[in-house]
Amino acid sequence: MTVLEIDEINTYYGNSHVLHGVSLDLAEGEVVSLLGRNGAGKTTTMRSIVGATPPRSGSITYRGEEIVGLAPNEINRRGISLVPEDRRVFPTLTVHENLVLARKLASDPRPIEEMYELFPILDDLRKNKGQNLSGGEQQMLSVARALVQQPAVLLLDEPTEGLAPVIVDDLREMLRDVVSKDVTVLLSEQNVSFAFDLATRGYVIDTGSIVFDGSIGELQEREDLLEQYLAVSQEEV
Ligand SMILES: Nc1ncnc2c1ncn2[C@@H]1O[C@H](COP(=O)(O)OP(=O)(O)OP(=O)(O)O)[C@@H](O)[C@H]1O
Ligand SMILES: [Mg+2]
Repeated sequence: MTVLEIDEINTYYGNSHVLHGVSLDLAEGEVVSLLGRNGAGKTTTMRSIVGATPPRSGSITYRGEEIVGLAPNEINRRGISLVPEDRRVFPTLTVHENLVLARKLASDPRPIEEMYELFPILDDLRKNKGQNLSGGEQQMLSVARALVQQPAVLLLDEPTEGLAPVIVDDLREMLRDVVSKDVTVLLSEQNVSFAFDLATRGYVIDTGSIVFDGSIGELQEREDLLEQYLAVSQEEV
């Protein structure tokens, strides 16, 4: 069953036309990757879905209902949570307070203790302020903040960006656990091998248009696409 369907959206920043008729769909329980290099339109797609930069035309339906035009907090409340690329952890609030706040915004949240079980590292840091966390710890908190809301759709915008390889490995293992439960995931990445490890299907976006849509297996065979749009060779993935 389709949970989220994006149909021919056009999104602008002022007069700058960034997304050109982007279409994408997510079926219940899938992990789908949105791949593309710097400035391709990955974040703008995520922002379009959550209502931060609503598309000027086209439609986005969630469980069959149009969500374009709804306020971001309403879209969030209905079950779509974004882990933004800049993480946006509240710097002066503790880890625990960050989770409490996220939980308040959700209609059917999980107990916070479940997040500490999932991320033992956060359990040890409960009383630490956001500003004192490392990049990896902030990323874990940002993911936990989304998950505590028990979203039906989890949007992860370049979660590996800026993280040390060993932290990327931790994040991969943690996300494997999460995605085996009932959540549908859209994962944007430039780290192609990370995305290939987690997703079963992928879209490649370039200059605001989708240039490939298919299985990860198919994409792995497309050396042309990997080189042209993702700047990686087949050996690297
Ligand atoms: N606030 C903004 N105002 C104007 N143009 C913007 C704004 N944010 C992004 N853009 C432009 O929109 C295009 C798509 O950017 P977007 O951030 O969606 O790309 P991205 O795929 O997420 O890139 P990255 O991998 O660097 O995060 C780029 O050309 C970018 O310069
Ligand atoms: Mg981005």
